[in-house]
Amino acid sequence: MSVIDDERVNLVAADGVGASTLADDVRRGLQAPLRELPPKHFYDARGSDLFDQICDLPEYYPTRTERSILERRAADIAALTQATELVELGAGTAAKTRLLLDALFQQGRPRRYIPFDIDGETLLRTGRSVAAEYPSLEAVDCVAGDFERHLHLIPAKRPGARRLFAFLGGTIGNFETRARRRLLRTVAAQLHAGDHLLLGVDLVKDPAVIEAAYNDAAGVTAQFNRNVLAVINRELQADFPLKAFAHVAFFDRANEWIEMRLRATRELTVTVREIDLVVEFAAGDEIRTEISAKFTPQRLARDLADSGLELVELMSDPAGLFAVALARPV
Ligand code: SAH
Ligand code: TRP
Repeated sequence: MSVIDDERVNLVAADGVGASTLADDVRRGLQAPLRELPPKHFYDARGSDLFDQICDLPEYYPTRTERSILERRAADIAALTQATELVELGAGTAAKTRLLLDALFQQGRPRRYIPFDIDGETLLRTGRSVAAEYPSLEAVDCVAGDFERHLHLIPAKRPGARRLFAFLGGTIGNFETRARRRLLRTVAAQLHAGDHLLLGVDLVKDPAVIEAAYNDAAGVTAQFNRNVLAVINRELQADFPLKAFAHVAFFDRANEWIEMRLRATRELTVTVREIDLVVEFAAGDEIRTEISAKFTPQRLARDLADSGLELVELMSDPAGLFAVALARPV
């Protein structure tokens, strides 16, 4: 663990965050009839960096659209929530979070920022830079863990604090309905009266626009997708030939989600030494690496209701590309 020099910055880490489930996920996922790997394994330091590059791509509208919504509405969010503690799930580099912190500082006195991420390296870098940029924050409590398993590691609220949980970037869309609602229910269980959840969701739109966002001309998304194989090669001593896998992204209209796959372009055999697994691929065989569900107001309403949350305000951009929902416990 690296040395933390700013004493306001703290780190709580779940045991063996990535590796412990990577082996299980690979064993299970690559032997299933529909091969699949969970998307959280994209995010090692290189994956987080590639994701940052995705956010700046001309085709990737979600990031800049969500930022534009926050630019216009952060003051309203601050006024509605009066939050004194900001918890952020899947914080990444917290690029858009500064807009929330600035607005909270303008209307009151936020005391604490609590970023939560599975990539401990990026998390700590984020925590340190937020602490440096906001000298009057009393604490930046970083939590390294899997938000599907480790939400209990989030430190307790201080007496009298009002919490805002932010879950931005449309990351909630990376889960199928059941897992999504389970996650939202667990988050909702952490909210008390006066607390809020700010949820960024990508909206259903012209499939061509969505598909371009996940299949950029420069090929950054393709590199990001293949990064999960690089992670498995390194962590589990596997020998996936990255070049032999093509990036595939298509909008599934029935499920209203975009699906990312890696397709073997030739017949090949992969050995995952660490877990004694041999996997055969025929040319054309695919691994599903991610879904990113797109929302209609109905999908959002059902997810929130199922999780015991009610919508306070739904904020969107003029073109209706993306939405940020402010919700509170019923
Ligand atoms: N909030 C940022 C980053 C979104 S990318 C933005 O809006 O741009 C998704 C982030 O969630 C990454 O930082 C990734 O490391 C993190 N993440 C993905 N799966 C996770 C999991 N299961 N538990 C915790 N963090 C996760
Ligand atoms: N949460 C992001 C999203 O669903 C993650 C993401 C963007 C992503 N582009 C990707 C994941 C490409 C895998 C492949 O929009």
